[in-house]
Amino acid sequence: MIDETTSKHSLSVSDAVDRRQSTRGYLDREVPIDVLRDILARALRSPSGGNLQPWHVYALAGQPLADLVDDVMAKLPTAGFGGDGDFEYAVYPASLGDPYLNRRFRAGEDLYKALSIPREDKARRRQQFVENFRFFGARVGLFFYIDRNMGAPQWSDLGMLMQTVMLLATERGLATCAQEAWSIWHKTVRAHVGAPPQLMLFSGMALGYPDPEHPTASVRTDRAALDEMVSFRGWA
Ligand SMILES: Cc1cc2nc3c(=O)[nH]c(=O)nc-3n(C[C@H](O)[C@H](O)[C@H](O)COP(=O)(O)O)c2cc1C
Repeated sequence: MIDETTSKHSLSVSDAVDRRQSTRGYLDREVPIDVLRDILARALRSPSGGNLQPWHVYALAGQPLADLVDDVMAKLPTAGFGGDGDFEYAVYPASLGDPYLNRRFRAGEDLYKALSIPREDKARRRQQFVENFRFFGARVGLFFYIDRNMGAPQWSDLGMLMQTVMLLATERGLATCAQEAWSIWHKTVRAHVGAPPQLMLFSGMALGYPDPEHPTASVRTDRAALDEMVSFRGWA
């Protein structure tokens, strides 16, 4: 039994890791500010090289979140997925080869299959992508920024913070979806959250109560086998 209003949670770390999945369908249920503050306060215990704590987080709900969504929806017909342009970083390397390309393809196909959207229905696939910019209906939108003079090690620190947020949310019966997609709207997001120019948007994150009836709720992405990913030395 998960009680999100107190700090008494019964999910083990292993269960939270197992249960967390990128969630793309949410209930229209408010996330109390105390619950969100508790998640973020605890997540700030995440490790970072030299304890730089190089992260900056902006959280939106209610009208400010609705205003951002409305702004992006109004811009989409002309801007399309070019977003604000002048992308600040490339989400994927230009030459994404296998096995990475195949994994990316499979994750997409599994999602569209759950939604019964065939490959040739480009319009509905685009529409599903647009759902990113409604936070898939989640009542909280988080934005993770990093100082633009930080390098790869600090970007990795930011990832640790994000995963910790996602696990703490899972522990409280909430769900999340990290969203690099928001990086295409970096100027629009900046205008809404008030981030200074020195900060760079890495990723958004939808956070809310999951809709167990949503067609994508059952999507469980696969993973490469342990021995494909990890080399063990020194054991008999
Ligand atoms: C940093 C990061 C950014 C992501 N950006 C997006 C995104 O923009 N939109 C989306 O639908 N999923 C996004 N995802 C979710 C991944 O597709 C997902 O983590 C992956 O397919 C594995 O599935 P799982 O999270 O359900 O285990 C992102 C994940 C991470 C870690």
